[in-house]
Amino acid sequence: MNTRIPLAKPVFEADDFAAIQQPLETGWVVQGPHVAAFETTFAAYVGAPHAAACSSATTGLHLALAALGIGPGDQVVVPAFTWVATANAAVYCGATPVFADIELDTFNVSPATLAAAWGPAVRACIPVHLFGLPVDPGPLPAGTVVVEDAACGLDARLDGLHVGTRGDCGVFSFHPRKAVTTGEGGMVLAATPELDARIRSLRSHGLMPGPTRNPWEMGEVPHVGFNHRMTDFQGALGVTQMAKAQRLHTARAARAARYRAHLADLDWLRLPAEPTGGTHGWQAFVALYQPETPSITTVDRLHAGRNALMLHLAEHNIETRPGTHAVHLLAWYRDTFHLRPEHLPNAWIADRASIALPLYPTLTDAEQDRVIDAVRTFDPPRRGA
Ligand SMILES: Cc1ncc(COP(=O)(O)O)c(C=O)c1O
Repeated sequence: MNTRIPLAKPVFEADDFAAIQQPLETGWVVQGPHVAAFETTFAAYVGAPHAAACSSATTGLHLALAALGIGPGDQVVVPAFTWVATANAAVYCGATPVFADIELDTFNVSPATLAAAWGPAVRACIPVHLFGLPVDPGPLPAGTVVVEDAACGLDARLDGLHVGTRGDCGVFSFHPRKAVTTGEGGMVLAATPELDARIRSLRSHGLMPGPTRNPWEMGEVPHVGFNHRMTDFQGALGVTQMAKAQRLHTARAARAARYRAHLADLDWLRLPAEPTGGTHGWQAFVALYQPETPSITTVDRLHAGRNALMLHLAEHNIETRPGTHAVHLLAWYRDTFHLRPEHLPNAWIADRASIALPLYPTLTDAEQDRVIDAVRTFDPPRRGA
């Protein structure tokens, strides 16, 4: 039996192993100098004025919305096709998520799908750069708070700007399926020093530093915060991971280009879109299974065929996953907001018919050829066949 090809694989090298030892040796393992160094390194890499590390992108989204004053009575527009954390962040703040459908060719929202979701109570929007494809939400109504969910967005750029740097906040993930990893971990970019200070306070119980550094002064707590801090050994790992980020991105982009070159002729598989005027981050390579036109009348057949494809690849010892989930189909959202699949039809189709193929920097040509060959030998059931 061939060795198993995983969906994703983080890259850890000698400098990473050495880095995480340093905080352990000094004994300072909670948020400290290595987290501060990671923040400075990350801010410089993406070209942002402020970056605050936290324990995950989920807690980062929470911090961003809370710092921007989003709360009960506010509606937050989020894509219907995204990881559930995007919508959960709004719920944590007592706000109401409102789902915008996606475009099937990009898996992202568009100005048209955002406009269809908009209403008078909308105060915030979380555009998601899904799988690393930059999204341009277009002009939003004046006063809208924008938090970019750039969890998958490292190395994704649009019109010369790194994603995450246009909104009031931009949030990144360092989960192991992301471009660089600290195990769990997140980073919040803020557009102003005031917002950055508020995020830093909220991530650490709401503490605001006092005017002196006397040992009896513990600081004030003017608002209720959380413990969303990153540990210092994660910060140390973040610094060495960022040192290789460009190299890892180049390798992922080369693998994506290779899939494109060898699979583009398959009429039953829609390959991921390339950005116009930008760079894809290539967090994942997600295609749409579509031997017939995707619609709410064909979705069940597409779903069965996509699952057969996943099974076929599993038989070749190749790991795959659906792209992500349609959040409005998840039980809590479906039941709380009385949503049905057809309310957000493209998110539903993407949930049922998308497939992520293995993509990671150390995927060898021989391993990738195995994936390509296995996909090509799949015989999609045709209607009436
Ligand atoms: C679009 C999106 N947002 C948020 C998250 C949450 O990231 P984390 O696992 O760091 O909390 C993810 C993780 O997969 C994601 O894909």
